[in-house]
Amino acid sequence: MHNNLLPKLVTGLLLLGSLHLYADDPNRSGSAVTSVAGESWLSHLHRSFGDTSMGKTGRLGPAPSEQEERWPAGLLASSGQEITLRGQDLYRLNCQACHGETGLGAPPEINSIIDPVRATSAALMLDRMKKRGMEITPAAASEMAKQAQSSLIERLHKGGKSMPPFSQLSDEERHALIEYMKQLSGTPGAVQVTVHESSVRVGELIVKSTCHICHDATGANPTPAQLEDGEIPPLETLTSRVDEAQFIRKVTSGAPVLMGTPPMLHRGRMPVFYYLSSEEAADVYLYLSNYPPSPLNAEVSPLAATIEQGGGSGLNAPPTNSSPQGSSAPAPAPNREPRAFAEHWAVALVLLAVTGFGLSVILLACGLVSYQLSQPRPPTLYSGEPALAMPSNAVSAGSGVAGANGRRR
Ligand code: HEC
Ligand code: HEC
Repeated sequence: MHNNLLPKLVTGLLLLGSLHLYADDPNRSGSAVTSVAGESWLSHLHRSFGDTSMGKTGRLGPAPSEQEERWPAGLLASSGQEITLRGQDLYRLNCQACHGETGLGAPPEINSIIDPVRATSAALMLDRMKKRGMEITPAAASEMAKQAQSSLIERLHKGGKSMPPFSQLSDEERHALIEYMKQLSGTPGAVQVTVHESSVRVGELIVKSTCHICHDATGANPTPAQLEDGEIPPLETLTSRVDEAQFIRKVTSGAPVLMGTPPMLHRGRMPVFYYLSSEEAADVYLYLSNYPPSPLNAEVSPLAATIEQGGGSGLNAPPTNSSPQGSSAPAPAPNREPRAFAEHWAVALVLLAVTGFGLSVILLACGLVSYQLSQPRPPTLYSGEPALAMPSNAVSAGSGVAGANGRRR
């Protein structure tokens, strides 16, 4: 019976493993940029622009009367070069719009990240418990810290009740980000990690994490009257509503906007992203021009992205949904929808099948393990086992912390 089972088990585990690899590959820093899709996060939550702190930095742009002489005609193009981002930059591009520079957020709507991050340190946990008069062992503290670490990683993958998921982040980016969050919250043992990105990847991160909070990916271009009524122009219209110089100015210093009937220049409602550089705003413009937003939510799974790119190896597959120089205009939305639907269903079915197979393999494996455990064997045999149940990145990101916290006295 074992002769039969073992190969199946191995194949199953390999399959599961490769599933994981595929899930992570498309986002490896800058390698497979995809267009932004679907409704904005606020539309998703059915939360109105006026009733939220999300995406708001608390600064408004200039009134029409405040003039702009410091804007020369020449414009800053996107650098087009490889960009080195620190964890701090990743935080700025992805999290700051909601959690602010300090990480304190805007409670009660947006929780502070400080305590959940500090909970990833065994030393701090031990300390905290002691202060509350609860004695716990170092081992228990380090177990709690490990759990805090994996729930942090899980939150970045899946989001929260009203926090969006950040499945667009690669493992490397997530790791650099978490190390910075530890620095920000004064957690001991944090290190500075950098990642290398392309300009469009920087643009992609900003759009998906920040602009998409308020702006839908696609839709009709609102009239000045509709703008005054509170409509927000979709991302696909932005690069034609304004030119690149105006775009950069709108994002980094704010600019008045034509609203009302008859249309007049008014102070904009959009917050100013003073913490984004002109180059980064140019990267956003570049990304939106080269990767036109698509109507459907691409949230099905990261695997879908790999399959849609026809990639066995998602790593180097060129993005097929882009029109690199904007030369081949994107197909009009109505033509794309049915096919995209079919693709998403196909992907869902494949996923279901693979998951089903994986589950039965796990069940078989459990049977085998319990059978083998019931045999007289050295007890160390399965000591590495729990790692199997954790996502691979949880293990790798966790190991960085183990290095810091693992030294027990
Ligand atoms: C669109 C707004 C938004 C963005 C962007 C955002 N978050 Fe959040 N975050 C929230 C909200 C809202 C909560 C409160 C819990 C909930 O409703 O999910 C939260 C909670 C958290 C918590 C948990 C706090 C707790 O009490 O456990 C952590 C950690 C966190 N966010 C990290 C991040 C990181 C890291 C990023 C950037 C990659 C990020 N968030 C980006 C909205 C956001
Ligand atoms: C908190 C919500 C919010 C976020 C986040 C947001 N915007 Fe906006 N944006 C608006 C609103 C509201 C308008 C329309 C009113 C106005 O212009 O202020 C707008 C309008 C615009 C316009 C059109 C200006 C015009 O004159 O037609 C551009 C360009 C723009 N946003 C770019 C961006 C970019 C790029 C990002 C991401 C870095 C972003 N926005 C993030 C709310 C937001």
